[in-house]
Amino acid sequence: MARKVVSVLVGAGSIGQAIIRRVSAGKHVVLADYSMDNAQRAAQTLEDAGFECSTIRCDLGSKEDILALLDFATSKGDVVNLVNAAGVSPSQAPVEEILRVDLYGTSVLLEEFGHVIAEGGSGVIISSQSGHRLPALPHDQNEALATTPVDQLLDLPFLKAINDTLKAYQYSKRCNVLRVMMEATRWGKRGATVNSISPGIIITPLANDELHGPRKEGYLKMIQGMPARRAGTPDEVGDLAEFLMSSRGRFISGADLLIDGGCTASYWYGDLQYLKTTH
Ligand SMILES: NC(=O)c1ccc[n+]([C@@H]2O[C@H](COP(=O)([O-])OP(=O)(O)OC[C@H]3O[C@@H](n4cnc5c(N)ncnc54)[C@H](O)[C@@H]3O)[C@@H](O)[C@H]2O)c1
Repeated sequence: MARKVVSVLVGAGSIGQAIIRRVSAGKHVVLADYSMDNAQRAAQTLEDAGFECSTIRCDLGSKEDILALLDFATSKGDVVNLVNAAGVSPSQAPVEEILRVDLYGTSVLLEEFGHVIAEGGSGVIISSQSGHRLPALPHDQNEALATTPVDQLLDLPFLKAINDTLKAYQYSKRCNVLRVMMEATRWGKRGATVNSISPGIIITPLANDELHGPRKEGYLKMIQGMPARRAGTPDEVGDLAEFLMSSRGRFISGADLLIDGGCTASYWYGDLQYLKTTH
């Protein structure tokens, strides 16, 4: 019997599901999440829409869990798609946890799946517009984030000095982009591409809570100051990822695509410059 073709999603939330359903028709979908409830809920939705799925608990911040996910996924067939849409945000976790999951975990995932990704395969890592709010880093920090062996990443002195969660998130997302560039050179040797996508405000259950909660005014002001004057949807991120992972996206690798309704442009040069003191 022919081996199956496998799509792996880490982080079965709104953005991850929007991507995976666009690229996985006829493939076996492995849904990995820290929360088995989330993974199983996503599997139910996808199975009701005709996808074949299996689920596994995986903490992105644990190398052991990533290796177990790798074994599980490769036992199902040839991995052609990897999507990482797992992550913790600055209001959800302390500094160490953000660096462990978003920065270290993503780096390990890229390295390990880079050993098995199939010829013609493609990966997408969800970064964030937040990484674009850091000014340019010194060359040696860029290089350290891109190339330091994964097991030594969290010992980098400039990461150890971070003491606020927003900075931890911004450095993690910047690291994702740099790590993707470095990994694209390795993935290319296997005939595969890998890119990152940096979304702006995307409406998910969490963002929707913020939009209706006590910080509503700040959010609405930010949205009004963006060129698009609205938030984005998971489907718009899904459409971009689908393009990158399709045959039309084969000349794109090691790139980061910002999809933020122009929010970053306004942050640096437009109506959102007032955010520079707090964001
Ligand atoms: N929603 C936005 O506005 C937005 C903007 C920019 C970037 N992002 C990024 O997009 C990604 C997905 O966000 P979303 O909005 O779809 O969120 P979501 O909460 O819908 O999904 C995130 C999923 O990741 C899982 N997860 C959390 N920690 C994990 C861990 N340690 N190991 C494995 N799984 C874990 C959660 O259980 C959840 O299912 C995140 O990396 C986030 O930083 C989101």
